[in-house]
Amino acid sequence: MGKIIVVGSSNTDLITRVERFPKAGETVEGKHFMLAMGGKGANQALAAHKLGGEVKFITSMGDDINGENALKYYQKEGLDVKSSLIIKGTPSGTATILVDENGENCIVITPGANNGLSPEYVFERKEEIRSASLLLLQMEIPYESVIESCRIASEANTNIMLNVAPARSLAREVIRLVDILVVNETEAEIISGEKVIEVGEQAVVDKLLALGARSVVLTLGSRGCFMKSESEHYTIPAFKVKPVDSTGAGDTFCGALAVGLNKGWGWKDALIFASAASAICVTRMGAQPSIPTEKEVQFFLNKYQSTSNNTH
Ligand code: RIB
Repeated sequence: MGKIIVVGSSNTDLITRVERFPKAGETVEGKHFMLAMGGKGANQALAAHKLGGEVKFITSMGDDINGENALKYYQKEGLDVKSSLIIKGTPSGTATILVDENGENCIVITPGANNGLSPEYVFERKEEIRSASLLLLQMEIPYESVIESCRIASEANTNIMLNVAPARSLAREVIRLVDILVVNETEAEIISGEKVIEVGEQAVVDKLLALGARSVVLTLGSRGCFMKSESEHYTIPAFKVKPVDSTGAGDTFCGALAVGLNKGWGWKDALIFASAASAICVTRMGAQPSIPTEKEVQFFLNKYQSTSNNTH
């Protein structure tokens, strides 16, 4: 098994639990506050690390207290962040997150130093990308840096997994470089130009494959996920859990999927592993504090299997 390299964002998450989201101009009282490390890149890198992958994380932070704390935290967790960029005089990324009683969230990100993770810096790290077996990317760093990462990886035959979150359109040349495209419904609609309600989920996925992605994973929240490539397709229902906070569930799914596929598992096993990891994540508060370990996922899957065997 080779290395997983994650090139992506890192934020400090300021999370407040509320009964309901405020309307414009309204003040509501928070029920609970939590400060934790976050950012889609960092969440996916930490998830892959905790779930059994050998991971290198390339990110960008400011030389402020948030950046300092984040670096210390990742070093303590044993995540390799040695190749990260520290930008003087720039604030580190932050995310202000509200979570309501149903576990749904609203997020405002202020990218700060994440916007400084330039294509030039990515190019400087090209040997690290080339030597990895899987590159994992999201969309919270400049688009040009995502493209540069894909270009370097594709020349070296490094597998590319792109989670198009937050949603944005992608050039066809970029989609063609991607081995595993992970999208939710909104993201799939923006990239394909098709509406799920009009043509159905399968047709939207087919359009993404026709645009050049080698495989597509469509995540469907509490309904599970659907995967399709030229030769395979799977529908995996979600594990039923009581949701507390959905923040970071998609990131945990991506990190876990990257680990499974990078270990050479078949699609079905990797998707079930990723679904279990994200199911555990939604039962807990915060993004990174909710990411389970590999042992916890195995325990969850064993328990789930023995319960479903007993009920049949
Ligand atoms: O996907 C969840 C993440 O989105 C949070 O950790 C927040 O930092 C934002 O990037």
